[in-house]
Amino acid sequence: MTPLATILRDSLGLRGTKIGCGNGECGACTVIVDGRAICSCLAPLGRMPGRSIETVESLGGPDDLHPLQRKLVERGAFQCGFCTPGVVMSLIALLRERPDPSDEEVRCALQGNLCRCSGYVKLLEAVREIAREGSHER
Ligand code: FES
Ligand code: FES
Repeated sequence: MTPLATILRDSLGLRGTKIGCGNGECGACTVIVDGRAICSCLAPLGRMPGRSIETVESLGGPDDLHPLQRKLVERGAFQCGFCTPGVVMSLIALLRERPDPSDEEVRCALQGNLCRCSGYVKLLEAVREIAREGSHER
């Protein structure tokens, strides 16, 4: 089975999607498929035709960051950044469904995204702030 993550990175050059564990445990490879955050390292390519696939590149570029990305930068919400694309995609999927999520809902949305650097506190602060401002979409 060729996983979606491999095709995104190696065939399409979309290297924002990271591969950490490769077996569904770290969330570095999270993308949004048909509105749901999923691990692309486990998603067989054969199940993708006709589906909407969003990667971190679809949100914006370095000169045109998505408001959530800008907020994470402003709040210093990451360190090495390896987990960040996956975290961003999980949070985007959450905020579309729940524009003003509770801390518990944010923690739940991030339960599959492992970050060994940040301790998650600044991520929670950034989401709280962006929800308060109502600026989670362009
Ligand atoms: S690389 Fe997909 S969950 Fe770790
Ligand atoms: S910022 Fe380093 S793993 Fe999350």
